[in-house]
Amino acid sequence: MSRTRRLWLFFAFICVTTFCWMVMLSSQDHNIVDNMLRYSVNVVLVNKQHKFLHQRHLQQQKHEHEQHKEIIKLEQQNNKTASALNVEVAQIFDKFHRMHGEVNVSKMIFYKITTKPLNNDTHGNDFNKTSTTSKPQQQFVPKIAHIIWFYPNETEFRFHQAMSLLSLQRFFKPRKIFFWHDTLPTGRWWLFAQQIVAHFLLVPYKRPTKIFNYTVSVPEHQSDVARIQLLREYGGLYIDLDVVLLRPLDPLLEYETTMGAETPSQLGSGFILAKENSAFLKLWLDSYSNNFNDNDWNYHSTIMPMKLAKQHPQLVHIEWFSINRPNWFERDFLYRKGKLWDWSENYAVHLWYRECPDDYNPTNVREMNTTVAEVFTFIYFNERPQWKGG
Ligand SMILES: *[C@@H]1O[C@H](CO)[C@@H](O)[C@H](O)[C@H]1NC(C)=O
Ligand SMILES: *[C@@H]1O[C@H](CO)[C@@H](O)[C@H](O)[C@H]1NC(C)=O
Ligand SMILES: *[C@@H]1O[C@H](CO)[C@@H](O)[C@H](O)[C@H]1NC(C)=O
Ligand SMILES: *[C@@H]1O[C@H](CO)[C@@H](O)[C@H](O)[C@H]1NC(C)=O
Ligand SMILES: *[C@@H]1O[C@H](CO)[C@@H](O)[C@H](O)[C@H]1NC(C)=O
Ligand SMILES: *[C@@H]1O[C@H](CO)[C@@H](O)[C@H](O)[C@H]1NC(C)=O
Ligand SMILES: *[C@@H]1O[C@H](CO)[C@@H](O)[C@H](O)[C@H]1NC(C)=O
Repeated sequence: MSRTRRLWLFFAFICVTTFCWMVMLSSQDHNIVDNMLRYSVNVVLVNKQHKFLHQRHLQQQKHEHEQHKEIIKLEQQNNKTASALNVEVAQIFDKFHRMHGEVNVSKMIFYKITTKPLNNDTHGNDFNKTSTTSKPQQQFVPKIAHIIWFYPNETEFRFHQAMSLLSLQRFFKPRKIFFWHDTLPTGRWWLFAQQIVAHFLLVPYKRPTKIFNYTVSVPEHQSDVARIQLLREYGGLYIDLDVVLLRPLDPLLEYETTMGAETPSQLGSGFILAKENSAFLKLWLDSYSNNFNDNDWNYHSTIMPMKLAKQHPQLVHIEWFSINRPNWFERDFLYRKGKLWDWSENYAVHLWYRECPDDYNPTNVREMNTTVAEVFTFIYFNERPQWKGG
C-alpha cells in the first residue's frame, strides 16, 4: 500500500471517530457515556462487593452453625432435665431390670429433676394461701396436680399407681404434685415413685369426716369431698391413682372445669381439671348439703355432677369419650385378651383397678396381650403401640 493511501485511511478513521464522539457528546443526555463509565466502574465494585459478601456469608454461616450447635447443646441439656427424663429413667430401669432380674429399687441410682422448688415448700408451708377473692380470672388451669391417699396405714403402693404418677409427670408436667395423705404407703413401688417423680410433695392432710351436716365415713366419699375442696382452693388436676394420662392436656387448660363422662348420666370424679374457685365445683360441693347419703355409692360422686352439668352446661367442659371410656361397664376391653381399645385419642384411661386385681409389673406387661398391658408398656418403656396415631 502506498504511503499516501495509508495517510488517507488514517485521516478517514480520525474523522469517523471524531464524528462519533461529537454525536455522542452532543446528544441530549449523556446516557451512553455515563453508562459506559459506570459500567466499567461497577464491574470493579461489584466484583469487590461480591467477594466481600461471599466472605461475610461464609462467616455468617459459620456463626449460625456454631449458634445452632450451641442451641442444640442447650436443648439437649434442657431435654435431659425435662420431658425426656422419664424415657431415660425407664430405659435405665429396664436395663437394670434385665441385668439384675428382680427389681430392687434401693440399689438403683435415679436421675431426678433438681430444678429449684417453687417455694420453700419442703415442709408444706406454701399452703397458707392469701385471699383469692381479688385475683383476676386465671387464663389457664395451674400446672399443679393433686393426689389423695386415704388408705389404711402402710398399704402397699402398687405398680399401676406408680405408672399413674409417671404418666402425670410426663404428660401434665406439673410444677408440683401434692400427695395429700394421712397415712403413708409402703413397698418398692412407693420407693420408686418417690425417687422418680419430680416435684413430688407429701402433705399431711386430715381427711374430712363431715360435710355440712352430714357425716362422711366412706373413704372414697371423704376423698371426693377433699378433691373438690382442694381443687376449689388451689386449682389444678386431680386424678385417681388408677387413672393414667396418655397425652398432654393442653387443649383442656383454658376451660374453667373439665370432667369426663362415664355414661350419659354420670361424670367420673377420678379426673377433674379446674381453675381456682371453679363455679362448677362450688355447685357440686354445695350439693352435698342436700341429702348426702354416705351409703349411696355413686350419687354424689358421679350422678350429681352430671345433673349439675346439664343444668349449667356453660360451667363445665365435658369430654365424652376421651377420659372415662372405656367405662366401668366396658372395663373388659382393658383386661380381656387382645388389644381391644384404640386409646390413641384418649387423654387418659381409667383402669377401674378395684375390680381388676391382676398384678402387673415391668416383666409381664410386655408379654401380656391386653390393652391395659399395652398402656403400661407405653408409660413404663415409652413404647408406642401401632395405632394410627401412634
Ligand atoms: C428436645 O425435646 C423436644 C421435645 O421432646 C424435641 O422435639 C427436640 O428435638 C429435642 N431436642 C434435642 C436436641 O434432643
Ligand atoms: C435390695 O438391696 C438392698 C441393698 O443392696 C438389700 O439390703 C435388700 O435386701 C435388697 N432387697 C431385695 C428384695 O433383694
Ligand atoms: C427459703 O428459705 C431460706 C432459708 O430458710 C431463705 O433464706 C429464703 O429466703 C427462702 N426463700 C423464699 C422464696 O422464701
Ligand atoms: C401457715 O399457717 C400455720 C397455721 O395457720 C402457721 O402455723 C404457719 O406458720 C404458717 N406458715 C407460713 C409459712 O406462713
Ligand atoms: C403408720 O405406720 C408407721 C410404721 O409402723 C408408724 O410409724 C406411723 O405412726 C403410722 N401412722 C399412722 C397414722 O398410724
Ligand atoms: C345443719 O343443721 C342445723 C340444725 O339441725 C340447721 O339449722 C342448719 O340449717 C343445717 N345446715 C345445713 C347447711 O343444712
Ligand atoms: C392377642 O390376643 C388376640 C385375641 O385372643 C389374638 O387374636 C392375637 O393373636 C393375640 N396376639 C398375640 C401377639 O398373642
